[in-house]
Amino acid sequence: MDFARKIQYFTLDVISDIGFGEPFGHLEADQDVNENVKAGEIGLTVTTLGLALGLTWFLQLPLVARLLGPSENDVVGFGRMIRNARSIVETRLQRETSQRSDMLASFVRHGLNAEELVSETVLQIIAGSDTTATSLRGIMLYLLTHPRVYSKLQAEIDAAARTSYPGVIPDSEVRKLRYLQAVIKEGLRIHPPVTDSVPKRVPNGGDTVVVDGTSVFLPGGTNISYAAWPLHHSKTLFGEDAELFRPERWLLEKDDKKLAEMNRTHELIFGYGKYQCLGKAIALMEMGKALYEVSHAVLSPTEYICRAVRATSLVGNPLHHPSYLLRYERDQADGDSSCTTSTGVSPSPKRHGRNTTAWEYLSTATCG
Ligand code: HEM
Repeated sequence: MDFARKIQYFTLDVISDIGFGEPFGHLEADQDVNENVKAGEIGLTVTTLGLALGLTWFLQLPLVARLLGPSENDVVGFGRMIRNARSIVETRLQRETSQRSDMLASFVRHGLNAEELVSETVLQIIAGSDTTATSLRGIMLYLLTHPRVYSKLQAEIDAAARTSYPGVIPDSEVRKLRYLQAVIKEGLRIHPPVTDSVPKRVPNGGDTVVVDGTSVFLPGGTNISYAAWPLHHSKTLFGEDAELFRPERWLLEKDDKKLAEMNRTHELIFGYGKYQCLGKAIALMEMGKALYEVSHAVLSPTEYICRAVRATSLVGNPLHHPSYLLRYERDQADGDSSCTTSTGVSPSPKRHGRNTTAWEYLSTATCG
């Protein structure tokens, strides 16, 4: 099973259901309906390349944009997505929009015209699916490579599962699972899903801001952005173990000032202030529910690990991930020898010295 692909099917179905009143049907068909995934992947690759090579200004020149920008005649990429979006809008407009139902209906009630509806639809598909899918893949990767964290999470979920819910667990209940919330938060920090943050332009005439107590003048017209990866892995902000996946850092930090600083930094993952992501609450809800349901209802812990190990297209190769080995440093420093998967797989710490590969560890599990 390609778990990474299925996660994207899930996030696309969620955003289409909430956004346009009907899921695209990726999960049911188990395939890339209308090539939404392919269109997004190619479009994002082209956009990111343009940004990385500093070509955005050039690509946005009206003539260049007309010649090289996305067109609805394109077979793939954002052009294909715009074509799909137009068809979604036309189909949706044939149904009732006067009642509170989905986001497109709300946009219609607030007076958006046809072109605005198409561009909002494209934005929702791009902003609302790849980001959450990448986050869930990253979190799963770190859970897979950190059995200590996984078994603690499983224990919390097992305890919560004693209260049964008629369907999928409500968001209000998922929010009460403190360790699960810390896992999500730490997963987003260690593997930030959005690294090419949207730059903000300094107003003409410039502006003065205070950075670490020092006034800094920013000339007008400068584009300001932040380097997500180094910031979220900063030892100054997160401590010497900043490179480690350790959800406990969000639960055990005693220094309120430091915790507030960590939280403020973490907030940047969804953008800040008036530019903050409009889908943050939805993304957090999706991640919490998906992690709970996958861990609780679908797979036993052993199955979970074994199947995910087989899902080789998960971000990188979990078996070769450096964090797998790094975690031992922390576990041993904490005197935590509970490196078990709660599946009966309890490797001795001796066997799992730093030179032991992830594969050697995982191969001790009995995968059917
Ligand atoms: C973990 C998942 C997500 C992450 C990390 C994320 C992150 C971001 C970031 C960094 C921005 C740019 C903020 C800026 O301009 O500075 C943004 C904007 C946006 N996001 Fe998300 N997002 C996620 C999920 C979602 C979802 C599920 C939706 C839709 C339901 C969504 C809808 C949007 C929209 C509409 C904007 C544009 C906001 C505006 O221009 O005012 N996002 N997001």
